[in-house]
Amino acid sequence: MNKALSSCVANFSKNGNDLVVGGRTVQEIVAESRTPAYIYDLSLLRRRHGLLRKNLPAELRIDYAVKANPNVKMLRELGTLYDGFDVASAGEIARAMEAGVAPGRMSFAGPGKSNEELTRSVMLGIGSISIESEQEIARLSRICTDLNKSVNVLIRINPHFELSKSGLKMGGGAKQFGVDSERLPALLHKYCDDQRVHIRGVHIYAGSQNLSGDDIIATFEKIIAYAIELTRTTAIEMDILNLGGGFGIPYFAMDDELDIEAVGAGIISLLEKYRKSLPHTLFKIELGRYLIGPCGIYAAKVLYRKISRDQVFIIIDGGMHQHLAASGNMGQRLVHRPMPMTIATAMDKPLEKVNVVGPLCTPLDTFGMNVELPHAEEGDILVVFNSGAYGFSASPLRFLSHEEPGEIIV
Ligand SMILES: Cc1ncc(COP(=O)(O)O)c(C=O)c1O
Repeated sequence: MNKALSSCVANFSKNGNDLVVGGRTVQEIVAESRTPAYIYDLSLLRRRHGLLRKNLPAELRIDYAVKANPNVKMLRELGTLYDGFDVASAGEIARAMEAGVAPGRMSFAGPGKSNEELTRSVMLGIGSISIESEQEIARLSRICTDLNKSVNVLIRINPHFELSKSGLKMGGGAKQFGVDSERLPALLHKYCDDQRVHIRGVHIYAGSQNLSGDDIIATFEKIIAYAIELTRTTAIEMDILNLGGGFGIPYFAMDDELDIEAVGAGIISLLEKYRKSLPHTLFKIELGRYLIGPCGIYAAKVLYRKISRDQVFIIIDGGMHQHLAASGNMGQRLVHRPMPMTIATAMDKPLEKVNVVGPLCTPLDTFGMNVELPHAEEGDILVVFNSGAYGFSASPLRFLSHEEPGEIIV
């Protein structure tokens, strides 16, 4: 039983043997365009927004993390659905603006913002900048003085306490992200009355891809308790508290869906418990993959069905250069676990164990060895689910100089 695959398939429908996305079969969609291609389903994007807003309290602001998928047409839609954008480079700011999102709705985080990026953000009137070091706030203060402008900042904190038990951790210990919490009092002392750099609150990002609702709530509670302690022990105004997020999606066979109802209920009770201690604070989270990951599939054509010493190799026209995560080369564990896949043109054919490989001249170019898939012939279309986030833009597209995959929105 592949739980991740079942939950992915449930997001779409079928017509006979064929997977249907946005009312049309994958076969029809790629016939009008080409393979390999990422296909993004706008109605699913809207449904997920409805699911989140139904379960999370209305007062919780939800920002979209542009790094998950910076496709401008998708950003345009996301900009109408969500409250703001978390951006991580001048390029992401430019794309978000191209999609019609005002800079005032963006917050800019990342450990290595250049002078040019800071200057541009201040000039544009960005919503807030998350400061990740003492050096950065000093530089930003100088830039603001030179420009005769001011800017809102959050201090991104690398906490002293353990944050998250599961997921990809990005806080605690020695990190390039955020200011170590023990250095915060000195930094606040120095900049609390700065006329240029207005410290509006804090930002703590525990990590990504967390499938445990209990763990997410426990992390949020630690962050809120710490924020309250800061308001009692320092002069910080906690106008904004960015709790991070890290809501995960099921990538591997034994992954369960994140229980979003339980997460929503947990956040509601946290707000009830702590609201009086932070009466004016705006709470926000920033999510990428949870919002858009399930809305995208990667479709590639079967070029060859090759038998080598009793093993079946399904050789497709796409591969790791276009979908690094599916090849297991984007930070997964030592053993490559396949992402949820099927043959979109033969979903009900008998299952067989095959090796799915791409066209590159490297053994790293595989989407899975010995994976169970419906029987595929040349010309069939293989799809990888949960590919809407960290797909196209997180892959080494130029490796081996193949044409870029299409991006089709249905
Ligand atoms: C600061 C920050 N916010 C948000 C995200 C988005 O994470 P995800 O797509 O897992 O929700 C990331 C991902 O690395 C991040 O570093």
